[in-house]
Amino acid sequence: MTQPEAKKRIETLTEQINYHNDLYYQHSKPEISDYAFDQLLNELLTLEKEFPELGLPDSPTQRVGGTITKEFATVVHQYPMLSLGNTYSYEELTDFDGRVAKGLEGEAYEYFCELKFDGISISLIYENGLLTKAVTRGDGVRGDDVTANIKTIRTLPLRIKQKNIPPKFEVRGEVFLPKEVFKQLNKEREDIGEETYANARNTASGTVKMQDSGEVARRKLDCYIYYLLGEDIEAETHADAIKQLELWGFKVSPTYKKCKDIQEVFDYINHWEKKRDDLPLETDGVVIKINSLEQQERLGFTAKSPRWAIAYKYKAESISTKLKGITYQVGRTGAVTPVAELEPVFLAGTTVKRASLHNANEIARLDLRIGDYVFVEKGGEIIPKVTGVDLSKRNESLKAVDYITSCPECNTKLIRKEGEANHYCPNEEGCPPQIKGRIEHFIQRKAMDIDSLGEQTIKQLFDLGLVKTPADLYDLKKVDLLKLEKVKDKSAQNMLAGIEQSKTQPFENVLFAIGIRYVGKTVAEKLARHFKNIDALSSGTYEQLLEAPEVGEKIAQSVVEYFKDPNHQKEISRLRAAGLQFESTMQVPNVVSHVLEGKSFVVSGVFQNYEREQLKEVIASHGGKVLSSVSGKLDYLLAGENMGPAKREKAEQLGVKIISEEEFKKMIEG
Ligand code: IVH
Repeated sequence: MTQPEAKKRIETLTEQINYHNDLYYQHSKPEISDYAFDQLLNELLTLEKEFPELGLPDSPTQRVGGTITKEFATVVHQYPMLSLGNTYSYEELTDFDGRVAKGLEGEAYEYFCELKFDGISISLIYENGLLTKAVTRGDGVRGDDVTANIKTIRTLPLRIKQKNIPPKFEVRGEVFLPKEVFKQLNKEREDIGEETYANARNTASGTVKMQDSGEVARRKLDCYIYYLLGEDIEAETHADAIKQLELWGFKVSPTYKKCKDIQEVFDYINHWEKKRDDLPLETDGVVIKINSLEQQERLGFTAKSPRWAIAYKYKAESISTKLKGITYQVGRTGAVTPVAELEPVFLAGTTVKRASLHNANEIARLDLRIGDYVFVEKGGEIIPKVTGVDLSKRNESLKAVDYITSCPECNTKLIRKEGEANHYCPNEEGCPPQIKGRIEHFIQRKAMDIDSLGEQTIKQLFDLGLVKTPADLYDLKKVDLLKLEKVKDKSAQNMLAGIEQSKTQPFENVLFAIGIRYVGKTVAEKLARHFKNIDALSSGTYEQLLEAPEVGEKIAQSVVEYFKDPNHQKEISRLRAAGLQFESTMQVPNVVSHVLEGKSFVVSGVFQNYEREQLKEVIASHGGKVLSSVSGKLDYLLAGENMGPAKREKAEQLGVKIISEEEFKKMIEG
């Protein structure tokens, strides 16, 4: 393809993708399948890789991330990002209303109420309609430039389509992880044996500061916009500004309301106190703003916050109830989670009977004793938590909790690995919840996708002694399945068909399904692409594993340990004999040119414009070869930032040429 042809195709693809993105994310009415959409996006990604000079700053490919930022640049805010005065009481709100009335010297005024979204605030700069910078609040005066990460948020316009927009303006809003996404993320982490995150807000905050924007894209952040600033804004009220923002395609929460006086503000607060639990994100209060912008200006700011706005914070609903006991759950990875068994109590719309206590440290921190009255809170989160002990009701004869020392399911002595908060049951092969958990993990949609089997079926198959490992599934006969409750000929047939069908799942799914600790779906995909087949992977050394994208020490260690275990090796041979896919069919990169033909490269460190894996693909697409270690045969060591000193030394000793990213770009461009 010539450059002008590519330019035209890039434009067409961009237009199509933007159109479908809009249908999907703004209107929830997709016209094409996810697969068809991914095909368009992949074509665009390939073209941009081939013709980097044609990449646009608002390309929809920015949504999938891929840039690595080592250190975020500091940016000084044009308008400082102040915080709001807080209150928990109607009296103080009435005082606020009094101060406003006084400040406006008897003039009429109205309020504009919004919910207070519990995420992290962000400032976005648009120039000539393009999103050019996204900066965190930081200390209010200066923040971090997190543009690449923020561009992955699909509901944020990268370019404003409307004409007649101010040449430069700023919008502010709140970046958050929707409750559902957070729940899913934690479920996935639990599934691969990672500790779960405590709350959505901190996780969103950590995500915005991640170095790899590809990982940020996978986290599915979202953002509500609530503030428009700039020199040439044609709005007289905050309501006008909000309307403007909606018109320009920003996502504004539809929960706002104009209120004619403080009484209506109270009504708004009351209305949302309960209903906010139904919203897709966590909220912790209401923000009350003066609607007229001219009046806002007249009221002005104190050193810390505006006089024209205030935040009313909902008290986290908390109630005290008796701790009847502590039970312990064992997960697929053997991790033990203590659970508080409570005297049932009604809290924020539901009856609470149990709450997670996370681990032994948490029990010690709270100094819990069975029989204590404990405070239970629901901070908008679905799972309630124990926040403390009501010491005024403590009976001094109660004894501190003795944490269990052996597994509640199989009685094996528990272990606690260094640096980890959880206790583990090491009886991988014989502990029932671990066995059943592994099979449930294996059949899930993202893995082998055997939806004709479910948790109940697995339980019965296990109880009947028919299935102990995933490989046993492939030995099942119809007569076995007919032994299950309520299973007749047809459903048995169905189950067998589902099991048979799973043999076509690609290698990356199989790799995720076998359940290596810390190997989630994304890492499984990277490993499959990098090692290509199970033999290369299982014989990979710790150092070779570290060469794979997204693989750090913890994962490398875990993979090596997994394949060392003869039971795992046996299981893999059985799965292989059953006909599962242990070879990657992922596409080999397109050939772009032959300029690197016969040249070999080792890629190391962090790069400005590419993810390491991407860089390897670029090398291959220009005919070059990627090696994993520096030797005398090597032609080039492509050195990014933070490359280990050992590699450099070795290359220097052996006379291997060390090149920078810039030099590499020159090689392929001309
Ligand atoms: S307006 C000048 N509106 O609350 C203040 N802030 O303590 C402009 N927040 O840093 C802020 N929801 O992160 C505003 N609807 C909303 C908000 C909101 C959440 C956060 C924001 C700000 C903090 C103020």
